[in-house]
Amino acid sequence: MSDRIHTLSGYFHEYQKSVADPENFWAKIADSFHWKKRWDKTLEWDFEGPDVKWFLNGKLNITENILERHLYTMGDKPAIIWEPNEPGDPNRIITYMELYEEVCRFSNVLVEKGVEKGDKVIIYMPMVPEAAIAMLACARVGAVHSVVFAGFSSNALADRIIDCKAKVVLTSDGNFRGKKKIPVKSVVDEALEHTDLIETMIVFQRTGQEVTMKEGRDFWWHEAIEGKSKSHEAVEMDSEDELFILYTSGSTGKPKGVVHTCGGYMIYSKYTFENVFQYTPGDVYWCTADVGWITGHSYIVYGPLLTGATTIMFEGVPTYPNPGRFWEIVDKYKVNQFYTAPTAIRALQVHGTEPIAPYKLDSLKVLGSVGEPINEEAWHWYHTHIGKTKCPIVDTWWQTETGGIMVSPLAGITPNKPAFATLPLPGVQLAIMDPEGKELKGNSVEGNLCIKFPWPGMIRTTYGDHDRCKQTYFAAYKGMYFTGDGVKRDHDGYYRILGRVDDVINVSGHRMGTAEVENAINEHPLVVESAVVGYPHPVKGQGIYAYVICDMSNRTEANLVNEIKASVTNMIGPIAKPDKIQIVPGLPKTRSGKIMRRILRKIAEGNMDSLGDTSTLLDPDIVDKIIAGRKE
Ligand code: WTA
Repeated sequence: MSDRIHTLSGYFHEYQKSVADPENFWAKIADSFHWKKRWDKTLEWDFEGPDVKWFLNGKLNITENILERHLYTMGDKPAIIWEPNEPGDPNRIITYMELYEEVCRFSNVLVEKGVEKGDKVIIYMPMVPEAAIAMLACARVGAVHSVVFAGFSSNALADRIIDCKAKVVLTSDGNFRGKKKIPVKSVVDEALEHTDLIETMIVFQRTGQEVTMKEGRDFWWHEAIEGKSKSHEAVEMDSEDELFILYTSGSTGKPKGVVHTCGGYMIYSKYTFENVFQYTPGDVYWCTADVGWITGHSYIVYGPLLTGATTIMFEGVPTYPNPGRFWEIVDKYKVNQFYTAPTAIRALQVHGTEPIAPYKLDSLKVLGSVGEPINEEAWHWYHTHIGKTKCPIVDTWWQTETGGIMVSPLAGITPNKPAFATLPLPGVQLAIMDPEGKELKGNSVEGNLCIKFPWPGMIRTTYGDHDRCKQTYFAAYKGMYFTGDGVKRDHDGYYRILGRVDDVINVSGHRMGTAEVENAINEHPLVVESAVVGYPHPVKGQGIYAYVICDMSNRTEANLVNEIKASVTNMIGPIAKPDKIQIVPGLPKTRSGKIMRRILRKIAEGNMDSLGDTSTLLDPDIVDKIIAGRKE
């Protein structure tokens, strides 16, 4: 059944209903799902704890709502279309029936390996259908998956394994990405030198590259599924049982495990998918994210598959073998909804319109954007050259913590305004707060974005540390969820996201905590202290600028800079590598020893005229020295 809104007045009507009576609003939507047992109470909440429960005592398995639910009506419809890295290589089309069988087979493997309800399973896999199969099999047996983006380093992977106390890792031998063949299994092997929590590793063979298999611990995927039954009875889960943990960066050094639960996430990911993209049966939908991020969870796997949609998974990169690759895929599969990040648009914009020319792109109905603010220039380029001015753009604002899209146009329904995420979805009650904690009502205001009322897809806790969840999201403004983003509401009541107001930077749509990057830099033995800030970058949105105090003995600056970059790649992964590293003699600090990041940010941006008052610094001269050595 569909809960799709069709008109603008329908949107306003639904929105009003969702605010006037949220419980009945969501209960009605939840009633169209398959429950093993209906819930007793729709919502219990308190944002002080925080303690939020949706669909209390409801029993379900999310995979029954993906698989069994669609088997008889659309068993031979493609669920997943997989497009490989290399254009000429065979693709894979997996129907709902085949997906059901594969998920069941792999569920039986997990059971055989002793995986039980509540166990944590790490998925460290490239973009192959088995990554989605792995997620669904975990959900089916009641295990909690934690997908780790396969570009993270062995150290970052080990931290996550240890934090969630995982006992199984699902991985692949290697990964094809553009021109590169990347080792994957060996990264897991390195991570496992730091912990012996992992009892079982299952390795999907993708590249055929050499790997070492540890007897009794490591198994090949294709061998493990051999002879396994293609049916499996889905385990009964409570609405509030954990579905997955996904680690994300915050303003402190250590990534936190955002916990989502079965019932609410299921309802929210499907409802938002269907409404924002206006997916109608038969459409082919493509989201270019990686399953390692929340966008991949909610809008490659769960949202589309819960809707019975056809979802594309692409293994490669936008520029290989040439910058027309995305558009070739759009034409090849007659993609109707296309969802990507501004950084990808800007990276392609650099190549001009020539790579687009050979393609028709006439199947496209909706374009989407996610992960960072989209600048107006990129918006217009996307609209004109990809959407041929006939496709609405859904600029979707949301977060790992929100589980699904929160502020966005409904495609073709909400009038667009370039660079505006426009209006909140039904059920989303926003508040703009001033620094004193006062809510700014009315239009034409700017402040910090908060959410006043629970929604089903919201974060329940940060794994293993509930107080951290409270401090990070529910302490800044009493009784509200604080997003960490700045926002403006214009004269029409439309929302424009202005970017992070905390120490999180957004590099190519990926969240990076500055403290996390600093910790990685400080691992280098000659580094004394460092401070990292973001600065505007023409393609990445924000780049990483690191100011580093070093012991220069026996090193040239160039050597040191390379070693520091290597240290960050080793501690986190290449995505966190600073774009600019400036060796400095000192950092601007207050008399109480606090680094004045505001000044460092201005210098990185090149805004030297507006540094403000520097006279209160411990050593005001340091600012001139830093400016003199600034990296262009
Ligand atoms: C930013 C990604 C502006 C924002 C889904 C948020 C956006 C952070 C948008 C979450 C958008 C995401 N416009 N900014 N449409 N979408 N952001 O957890 O700063 O990886 O807080 O979730 O990305 O990043 P995350």
